[in-house]
Amino acid sequence: MMLTGKCVAVTGAFGSLGAAVVEAVQKAGARVAAIDRTATPHEPLGDAALFGNVDLGDMASAQKTLDDIAQKLGGLDALVNVAGMFRWETLVDGSLDTWDLLYRVNLRTAAAASKAAVPHLLKSTAGRIVNVGAGAAGKATAGMGAYAASKAGVARLTEALADELKDQHITVNAVLPSIIDTAPNRADMPTAEFDRWVKPAQLADVIVFLLSDQAAAITGALVPVNGRV
Ligand SMILES: NC(=O)c1ccc[n+]([C@@H]2O[C@H](COP(=O)([O-])OP(=O)(O)OC[C@H]3O[C@@H](n4cnc5c(N)ncnc54)[C@H](OP(=O)(O)O)[C@@H]3O)[C@@H](O)[C@H]2O)c1
Repeated sequence: MMLTGKCVAVTGAFGSLGAAVVEAVQKAGARVAAIDRTATPHEPLGDAALFGNVDLGDMASAQKTLDDIAQKLGGLDALVNVAGMFRWETLVDGSLDTWDLLYRVNLRTAAAASKAAVPHLLKSTAGRIVNVGAGAAGKATAGMGAYAASKAGVARLTEALADELKDQHITVNAVLPSIIDTAPNRADMPTAEFDRWVKPAQLADVIVFLLSDQAAAITGALVPVNGRV
């Protein structure tokens, strides 16, 4: 198994993609801590240690949670930043607060969790951070400005932190999904061709590879994972 003996923290772990990542990382042999702002998971998460009710936008909460996880798991080898949120809203008809909200939920959570994790990852022989960006951040269309800006920030965080940590055996990469085949997306777009959308389990497989020893030479990469969209 690709992650035997590793300790991995996953944020946004009670959501659609996060739950799939927790499952795949456990199947790959790792011990997992599942962090989320929601109190309890919507579905069972195997043997994962659960850390609900955590707002990772708050640096003190992020630090306490990552410290508690490292203590509980006996160390930390990897962090997967899945926590995030989508809003479609035009600038003219929308609220400026949406820009602050998406910055906080999509970018600040990843920055805070990474900052909190790095002191623990430095003790690992092969530290890993994988962020979840978005393909939509490459070029925004109407209504996508705040979301794309926040996810473009995740891409720039990935590049900057990869460069910052490249001599310390920690890699930092991001996956850039197109639309994911989740229940909320199916409900929002009932006439879409669901089989074109990337499955959460497919994204999770790519994340497992980026966490593995086999991916040691990849850092600062922004990996599109599009299914057939
Ligand atoms: N779904 C897509 O089509 C798609 C496409 C491209 C990229 N993505 C990205 O993929 C990731 C996962 O998407 P998803 O569809 O699985 O979303 P999801 O089901 O909404 O899961 C996201 C989880 O993150 C949690 N969260 C939000 N803010 C948090 C915070 N401050 N601290 C801790 N946890 C927090 C949410 O909790 P609450 O519910 O309590 O807020 C939720 O459980 C996101 O980063 C998203 O932007 C998704």
